Amino acid sequence: MSDTNVYNRLRIFDTTLRDGEQAPGCSMTLTEKLRVAKALSELKVDIIEAGFPAASPGDFDAVKAIADRNFGPVICGLARCNPADIEKVHAAVKGAENHRIHVFVATSAIHREHKLKMAKEEIIKSAVGAIKMARELCDDVEFSPEDASRTELSYLAEVVSAAIEAGATTVNIPDTVGYTVPAEFDRLFRYLKEHVARIDDVILSVHCHDDLGMAVANSLAAVGAGARQVECTINGIGERAGNCSLEEIVMAIKTRAEFFNVDTGIETTRLYPTSRLVSNITGMHLPRNKAIVGENAFAHEAGIHQHGMLQHASTYEIMRPEDVGLSKSSLVLGKHSGRHAFRDRVVELGFELDEFETNRSFQEFKKLADKKKDVYDGDIESIIMNADGTSSGPWTLQSLEVQTHTDEPATVTVNLIGEDSKVASESAIGDGPIAAAVQALEKATGVDLILRNFELHSASIGEDAQGEVTVSVEIDGRNFRGRGASVDIVEAGCRACLEVMNRTLRRRARGEDTNVKAHSVHATI
Ligand code: KIV
Ligand code: ZN
Repeated sequence: MSDTNVYNRLRIFDTTLRDGEQAPGCSMTLTEKLRVAKALSELKVDIIEAGFPAASPGDFDAVKAIADRNFGPVICGLARCNPADIEKVHAAVKGAENHRIHVFVATSAIHREHKLKMAKEEIIKSAVGAIKMARELCDDVEFSPEDASRTELSYLAEVVSAAIEAGATTVNIPDTVGYTVPAEFDRLFRYLKEHVARIDDVILSVHCHDDLGMAVANSLAAVGAGARQVECTINGIGERAGNCSLEEIVMAIKTRAEFFNVDTGIETTRLYPTSRLVSNITGMHLPRNKAIVGENAFAHEAGIHQHGMLQHASTYEIMRPEDVGLSKSSLVLGKHSGRHAFRDRVVELGFELDEFETNRSFQEFKKLADKKKDVYDGDIESIIMNADGTSSGPWTLQSLEVQTHTDEPATVTVNLIGEDSKVASESAIGDGPIAAAVQALEKATGVDLILRNFELHSASIGEDAQGEVTVSVEIDGRNFRGRGASVDIVEAGCRACLEVMNRTLRRRARGEDTNVKAHSVHATI
């Protein structure tokens, strides 16, 4: 970036906790949402859309808890165009010094006819009423015409004009179904700039989905045509194929600032740790070749590239790994590493642990370093994610015996220790070691579960890498996710299931209702 250029400011509106979390398999507990919100504030996003308070009491509580922490960014909540939704958003976000109400209504013919069954004028009336009400409660109001990219241009301009007259301060243009292409979206933004009288009085925003793999490209086209806010999610998580990826759009803008003539306030060295945090929490692992934050994003394998890199890094590198928070080497610690080195690395990876958590994680690290020679960043992250407070008792896995033989059922014995030093030892036979282990755990804990999904991921590299298991299970009609890690993959699976069983037992001990239907993906216990 040259010193002489003064770039326009592009706001980064993160919707990981709303549009991202809404995606199947991405639901987060309240504690996890708070961790993500804190990481987003360290990343210095401008706005955090923390949730959709009217969607469920759990959503309301999470938005309120985030707003009340006052992390720094503007805290926003989503509402449909009705008074109850708007009041709920206001009640949830008002604890934050800077807060925003985001109202939306669909405007395309398909949505008008088949979903809303409302005429064009009715939709405008509803939007105007909602914006006016929101403005009475809050100075910062965003309006989104859902499915804008498939809305007739002249009608869209009419809706946007009415929204501005009603008091919207940001107007967001969503490509809700990921249908548009860059040249078309550029035209749409230029049309609005030309045909909406007071368009320059508001911040024009863009919100793209990735169904055709063009969310980032479409968002950049909108920026080129005057959008000054981009809505995006960490790792691009979101409904269906996801949303515009925050790390990609931010690095595209940073790398090509002179082309776009804008810059963001993002602390780009926090991109990698934040991406890892969200991927660990959601269990949505990234492809190795994912731009910016994938394991191979900065790896140069081909000899000719390596030769060029050695001569001068810029021959094949348009960004420096350190700029996105990737350390130059990922081999970090071993069994002779001390507490100090461990703590430094933990901080570099973006975790903030208190004394108790540091001690607990350090002990786990020492145990792991006895089993495997090299401890990598992925291993450390795995230890910390599994040292989360939610994984504590009542039951701890003391030992596990597994017998398998090709073409024969597997037998597993689990030995658990309870909080009161009670011992539970149970065996079971199953088609495979995981099925047998789950049954043995069910007998030992008294918690029955249906295993819906079992994902195994290597936390680092090499044959002795830890296996990280994420399970999705159904208990008492509700869906939950559990995580476990170990160099033994059956043990990792057991730990993941036991984590969810323990949470269920704690919830039952608190007398909380267990009879909620399975599709409740917003379960937070
Ligand atoms: O995709 C979409 O249209 C949305 C709106 C609610 C902004 O998420
Ligand atoms: Zn969306």
